[in-house]
Amino acid sequence: MAILIKNIKELVQTEEIPMRMVAGKAMSVLNTLKDAWLLIEDTTITDFGTMPVPDSVNIGSQAGNTIIDAHDRLVFPSFCDSHTHLVYAGSREIEYIDKIKGLSYEEIAKRGGGILNSAKRLHDTGEDELVEQALGRLNEIMMLGTGAVEIKSGYGLNLEDELKMLRVIRKLKALSPLTIVSTFLGAHAVPAAYRGRQGEFVDSVVDEMIPRVAAEGLADYIDVFCDRGFFTVDETDRILKAGMKYGMRGKIHANELDYSGGIEVGVANNALSVDHLEFTGDREIEVLLGSETMPTVLPGAAFFLEMVCSPVRNIINAGLPLAMASDFNPGSSPSGNMQFILSLACIRYKLLPEEAIHAVTINSAYAMGISHDFGSIARGKTANLFITMPMPGYSFMPYAYGSNKVATVILNGEVINRP
Ligand code: NIG
Ligand code: FE
Repeated sequence: MAILIKNIKELVQTEEIPMRMVAGKAMSVLNTLKDAWLLIEDTTITDFGTMPVPDSVNIGSQAGNTIIDAHDRLVFPSFCDSHTHLVYAGSREIEYIDKIKGLSYEEIAKRGGGILNSAKRLHDTGEDELVEQALGRLNEIMMLGTGAVEIKSGYGLNLEDELKMLRVIRKLKALSPLTIVSTFLGAHAVPAAYRGRQGEFVDSVVDEMIPRVAAEGLADYIDVFCDRGFFTVDETDRILKAGMKYGMRGKIHANELDYSGGIEVGVANNALSVDHLEFTGDREIEVLLGSETMPTVLPGAAFFLEMVCSPVRNIINAGLPLAMASDFNPGSSPSGNMQFILSLACIRYKLLPEEAIHAVTINSAYAMGISHDFGSIARGKTANLFITMPMPGYSFMPYAYGSNKVATVILNGEVINRP
């Protein structure tokens, strides 16, 4: 089975020699091929080049093969969304209204809203219903161009409910054509039952939850909400070390609410990514330099909560890479639309379209440990890509915010839809 896409107006994010990530100045250079063709065989991108299609690649005569004419359209690698909480029950628009009336995210959390609210709902919702709701969200983001997604637990806040969430994610891995990686976020908030006994809750995460999650092979990574009012640096350090003992590398929430030390403790534990980063100064940038940790910014959450923007220009100017993800969750970012993230990247963070595209493809693929296989158009990589609506060039993608510009989705070498 092969798919040949021909007459592609511009093939975006091509790589002759695949990179693990793109950093610093190199982020402003995006390789593309104009007037291109692309060949997919089974699940893999096997070749591409400029038109005309060479005779050696002519697949027309064999049955089961597909030829797509992408005249006027661009082809992008699918977005990689390296940070979401998209398994959740119901929604929280009541808090949204509280927020409009002036309450902050932290104030809502202190009143038992926020994460604790979602935990209550999750507890009362069965596994099948959670799968159903999450599949709806996965299908939505798939048609918006996302091809790989990380999903966290974290609305369980006790062993049974955390396991329930992670089992839901395991089911989604089997049911969805999206590539899914899972992260255990036991330390997302202190549950009501442990109020005033945060240390004991951390004990239960370390001694009880992590070994069980690992024994069932339910999580690829481990996360902690390391920030003011949530988990401390020492607690984060303890949890990350415990996770690593079981092969779960860190991917943590850090420096969203303050200079909390989250970046430092993440890097010290060789976290794969540190995420949010609204409070990132010279010291934090210094720590990130020379590390293997991907700085990851979540523009949807900063937009929805009206937070300050992370100083991404300082991060890139220092020579660091930068990833961006949606943070799709019911409290701080009830949208997983990576096209909108791309627009926010350019509009609010002043990234160039080239930088923004790297941030939501190859660098976010790195931030979920899959950039060897996803995040660019390269020979040998998995054929996860989309064909756009007719458009003048790739800058139109972030520019024309708010509408869906993805026409045809191809995942694992299969056409998911026709325009
Ligand atoms: O990434 N910051 C912590 N966790 C989520 C929010 C979760 C929620 O409010 O339900 C975030 O923003
Ligand atoms: Fe998050």
